[in-house]
Amino acid sequence: MSNRTLAIIKPDGIRKNLIGQIITKITEAGFKVKAVKMVKLTKDSAAGFYEVHKERAFFKDLLDYMTSGPCVPIALEKENAVADFRKLIGATDPAEAEDGTIRKLYAASKAENVIHGSDSDENAAIEILHFFSRKELLDISGYQF
Ligand code: CMP
Repeated sequence: MSNRTLAIIKPDGIRKNLIGQIITKITEAGFKVKAVKMVKLTKDSAAGFYEVHKERAFFKDLLDYMTSGPCVPIALEKENAVADFRKLIGATDPAEAEDGTIRKLYAASKAENVIHGSDSDENAAIEILHFFSRKELLDISGYQF
């Protein structure tokens, strides 16, 4: 069981002005924000982050979407973080997401689904370090990585 996960409020979430509402839902669910920033991904950086999807038909659209504006990566901590966070955000397709989940509330489609959550403990560590350096995590919040 891991205690960390990476959330990303995606560019559609920023355009819809949802940063505040989404972070409130996350913290009300018991997650601690360990680090947060606003960044605009480059195509190369997005391609690296989503390398696992590079053979998928939607890969180019995914890169266009994720580089269409700034996003907000958030390093989170909670017991059982990965599973609990994926429950909080709901299914990839908002039409299939449970009531009360972030995607059910705010996402427009399977492609533009407002928020990302790591899918495993191993990926959580890799993904947090995609956006935050070890030094930054330590300097910002004393977060040892
Ligand atoms: P996420 O599950 O966070 O990471 C992969 C992303 O690819 C996913 O969110 C969507 O934003 C996007 N995605 C997944 N499936 C599709 C699809 N069938 N068509 C377009 N985009 C998709």
